[in-house]
Amino acid sequence: MARIGILTGGGDCPGLNPVIRAVVRKALLEGYEITGIKNGWKGLVENDTMRLDINTVSGILPKGGTILGTSRTNPYKKEGDLQKVKDNFKKMGLDALVAVGGEDTLGVASKLVKEGLPIVGVPKTIDNDLSATDYTFGFDTALNVAMECIDRLHTTAESHHRIMVAEVMGRHAGWIALEAGIAGGADVILIPEIPIDLDEVCNIIKKRHARGKTFSIVVVSEGAQFKDGSMVTQEKKLDAFGHVRLGGIGEELAAQIEKKTGYETRVSVLGHIQRGGSPTAFDRVLGTRLGVKAVELIKNKKFGKMVALAGIKIIDVPLEEAVKALKTVDMELYDIAKVFFG
Ligand code: F6P
Repeated sequence: MARIGILTGGGDCPGLNPVIRAVVRKALLEGYEITGIKNGWKGLVENDTMRLDINTVSGILPKGGTILGTSRTNPYKKEGDLQKVKDNFKKMGLDALVAVGGEDTLGVASKLVKEGLPIVGVPKTIDNDLSATDYTFGFDTALNVAMECIDRLHTTAESHHRIMVAEVMGRHAGWIALEAGIAGGADVILIPEIPIDLDEVCNIIKKRHARGKTFSIVVVSEGAQFKDGSMVTQEKKLDAFGHVRLGGIGEELAAQIEKKTGYETRVSVLGHIQRGGSPTAFDRVLGTRLGVKAVELIKNKKFGKMVALAGIKIIDVPLEEAVKALKTVDMELYDIAKVFFG
């Protein structure tokens, strides 16, 4: 009997458990055995596995996070780890692997395919920044959480006549800020794709106040930068994939807005709240469809592919294509958001 392994890597996100459940259920139905690999690529380096069967995945559909655990381990970073991955792949008796992750996890998967490992990728990230798929699962949930937070900020901003800055995640793509800002009726939306023009932001707010509004909501993406400044980070240390920890732009922005406008300004950093909790129906359905399709690809020996959403269809695309460039925001959508600024 052939055996499929599954791992989840990178930042967790709502929808991972629906994917795991779908892969297990479809694999069992097709007569495969299945091995859960713990904590992303770390589990393959350390030969750390868990049993996955119909009972293990029962009841996990509405749960956030991942029952397999995750890590940001990069097996290409430390000497010897790559060989361990290859050796453990054999020791686990795997005939195929489903790698569920974002840019980093799938980047590793794409390289391992070139070394001859039979891998299929499933795209996940709240950031929605993967090319070759219309949406990644996790994004819709994060978006809805951010929207609800913006709604909540509205009521307190209005009562206190304040400006509220909401800092959202998204790394170097402004999808969460842009769509949560549109859905939550933000008065200004600032994204990494467009440098922040502080004078313009303050003018928009002042004009709004001049027409009688006593509060404003500003949504800023963690990766946004001032026109003449650099990216605001939590610490300079890089992770195994060379990323810095972003965060802090909201604080700086709020201070500058208060100074320039004279209006009382507060900041809320939504942080990991956006990544936690139960997946939305959209993410549960998308995760389920992607998981089932991943097993179909394995059955047809279509390795080196990533399952993806194209319109309303689930298709497969080369893994390489998915990781070659970051998918930044659609400027047509940004122009729509601008109609409601101020
Ligand atoms: O990639 C998902 C994400 O949540 C980004 O939006 C954010 O910058 C990063 O992960 C945070 O990572 P960590 O959980 O390691 O702090």
